[in-house]
Amino acid sequence: MTRGDRTLAPFGRRRLPVVGRETFGPYVVLSVADPDGPAPDPGQFAMLATVAQWGGGEDERPFLPRAFSVARRGDDGRLDFVLEDVGPGTERLCALGRGEDVWLLGPLGRGFTPPRERRRPVLVGGGVGIAPLMIWGDALGAAATTLLGFRDAAHAAGAVLIPGARVATDDGSAGHHGFVTELLAAELGAGGAVEVYACGPPPMLEAVRALCAEHEVPAQLALESGMACGFGACFGCVVPTRDGYVRLCVDGPVLDAATLAEVS
Ligand SMILES: Cc1cc2nc3c(=O)[nH]c(=O)nc-3n(C[C@H](O)[C@H](O)[C@H](O)COP(=O)(O)OP(=O)(O)OC[C@H]3O[C@@H](n4cnc5c(N)ncnc54)[C@H](O)[C@@H]3O)c2cc1C
Ligand code: FES
Repeated sequence: MTRGDRTLAPFGRRRLPVVGRETFGPYVVLSVADPDGPAPDPGQFAMLATVAQWGGGEDERPFLPRAFSVARRGDDGRLDFVLEDVGPGTERLCALGRGEDVWLLGPLGRGFTPPRERRRPVLVGGGVGIAPLMIWGDALGAAATTLLGFRDAAHAAGAVLIPGARVATDDGSAGHHGFVTELLAAELGAGGAVEVYACGPPPMLEAVRALCAEHEVPAQLALESGMACGFGACFGCVVPTRDGYVRLCVDGPVLDAATLAEVS
């Protein structure tokens, strides 16, 4: 079901079985079967929690479900998520195996929109920010150029998830030695009409925003913010734009870079 520029989630969360788990360096690709769920738009996300052992531990965390970009959808309705273990929720989700179930609410939010004026799409990802670029790259096909930045060669193992991507690492242990924004600067400096799509940590997104503004290139940024509900009820996810605060879960997570004074 769609309304305007987003696919709407069915009411209520769905209990879905885990059908795959693969590791790529520090990243876990978790696959769940969702044959009856709507096809997500690239850039949309879902709220995930495990059915068993979500909270109830020593300090009861993680309490609430966590937000994750849909990284891929198979023709059979299989949904892939790319996870990085940074705390109690991601630790539990990363430990899931076949035969266990998750609660999924989604797809949620507004995703990427096609390039304006037939511009060439350039995808820029940092770390686990690769996730929404996978499904968007699948939709764009060969037209897209993808640039990915990682901390080191161990993290760059995730780059195989987007075949043909050019890689930069902070320590030079794989690909270009330096930030992925250096690859982007070279790409923008070469001229030609492009539109940039980016997801990654806030300093990377701010550098992408500033570069694109300098080159007068349109950009769409997939942002993150702490999300308690994921559907507009709690106002916990608000971010400032030039037009005031917006709720990232319903007005984003993808925002037009021109609406942002900065990414913080
Ligand atoms: C729309 C959206 C899409 C996301 N997609 C992915 C994804 O594809 N893969 C993935 O691994 N993670 C993704 N995240 C981030 C993910 O939701 C957080 O990493 C997760 O909530 C952390 O939960 P936790 O219980 O493991 O750790 P917590 O204890 O909740 O957090 C661990 C650390 O991460 C920080 N943190 C937590 N949530 C966020 C956040 N949303 N933004 C910035 N810092 C945060 C905390 O401040 C803390 O330092 C996404 C977030 C959003 C909002
Ligand atoms: S997460 Fe609750 S309003 Fe956005």
